[in-house]
Amino acid sequence: MEEGITGGLPGKRHRRLYRRWGAGGWGIVITGNVAVDSTQLATAHDLRVYDNPHTVPLFTELNDALLADAPEEGRPLTLVQLSHAGIQSSPTWGLSRAPWEPAVAPVSARPTLGRGFVAWLFEHILWPTKSRAVTDLAEWLDIAGKFIDAAAAMEEAGWGGVQIHSAHGYLLANYLSPLTNPHPHALPGVPHYVPLRLHLLWLILTGIAAATEPRFVKAVKINSSDFAAGGMDEYQAADIIREIAAWQLVDILEVSGGTYSNPAQAGTARQSLFAHFTTELIPTLPPVPEGPAILLTGGMHDRSLIASSLRNRACDLAGVARPAALVPDLPSRVILNREIDGPKAKVGPYAIPQGPLVQRLLGGGEAKTAAKPGAVKLVGAGVSTTWHEWQMARIGLGVEPDPQLPWISGALTYTLWLDILGGGPRGWIARYCGWDD
Ligand SMILES: Cc1cc2nc3c(=O)[nH]c(=O)nc-3n(C[C@H](O)[C@H](O)[C@H](O)COP(=O)(O)O)c2cc1C
Repeated sequence: MEEGITGGLPGKRHRRLYRRWGAGGWGIVITGNVAVDSTQLATAHDLRVYDNPHTVPLFTELNDALLADAPEEGRPLTLVQLSHAGIQSSPTWGLSRAPWEPAVAPVSARPTLGRGFVAWLFEHILWPTKSRAVTDLAEWLDIAGKFIDAAAAMEEAGWGGVQIHSAHGYLLANYLSPLTNPHPHALPGVPHYVPLRLHLLWLILTGIAAATEPRFVKAVKINSSDFAAGGMDEYQAADIIREIAAWQLVDILEVSGGTYSNPAQAGTARQSLFAHFTTELIPTLPPVPEGPAILLTGGMHDRSLIASSLRNRACDLAGVARPAALVPDLPSRVILNREIDGPKAKVGPYAIPQGPLVQRLLGGGEAKTAAKPGAVKLVGAGVSTTWHEWQMARIGLGVEPDPQLPWISGALTYTLWLDILGGGPRGWIARYCGWDD
């Protein structure tokens, strides 16, 4: 999960947070977005892989911190999520380039956030210019190379593997989707049997396999659907996943869904969000270890749901995001704690104080009515994401998460003071230069 801490290279606050997760009984810990191109960020909090001498040492320190208090008999697998935000990279939100410089994507377009004036306004503030369509094949090879180099750097830093982010409307999801890549080109060096839409991912995965040891884990996060008219649907996603599985290059495949236009992954239903898809998919895949282990994330917040999903083969691995921001040791404290009876082994429902109010003020409608025309769904998801990021920022500061944290005071304390006024940019520069922060 994106950590809610000033981005750049990992620093002291990242190490404190990951150390807590490492001690929490998780089987795998996956970082938030780590950008392979520091100009194409998802948010200003993205960690980044630079071509500079401090990248490997600081990622080594993060991995060491993650494992420092891990139980000897159950050290988690540590994965770095490599991403490139593609069409959704916003210069004004990510602060990584001048506002007039476009995002890089397979098409020239601007993400759509809904209908009505508020959606239009957000779209033009977040993306003052449309994305630039990459047409030069050498530029695609260069982008693939950034993922491969980043993976090799993470192996050098001691991480157990990488997860290639190909979901949520980021660049690799753009490449897979008919909506954002209507006329995919053949990329050099890719065998003819690979479908055109998968060329970029094939180059990245084969490149990583060649550049790293076989035991270095290769994971992919992919959408079950874009949940957008004209985008990748569940049939296309299932075909794509079967094709990827057949390459035998991927150890873990995480299923998610949605884009900024319709952030399905941020759904709040107390049920597994994409289990209907994986339940039908898994019997059509080669079994592990020939095929990838399927990791299902979204709404898996209690023991009985996780257990029934594993038992019914809706997944091989269960992923948990939001609750990990509130209870960093959720597995050992709750889910796997035998002293807690089954029905109680869950993260109780919690409401974000002032969340619906802020959502309405910003044009996202109330939680119940967010689907109404004119309501910007990204605002609803953003209000929840930001509040969970503040909880992680608290852990990074050495204080406990606060489920009662009102949205307004969180915005003033963590975003305005800590991120903007109180030294956020200073930390980013300090870590880039290799100074302790
Ligand atoms: C604060 C926050 C940060 C997130 N950051 C990322 C991220 O960096 N990469 C990613 O693939 N998904 C990210 N997600 C999405 C989660 O991985 C997950 O798909 C989603 O929250 C649903 O799972 P959950 O119900 O267990 O929270 C983030 C979600 C939240 C709330």
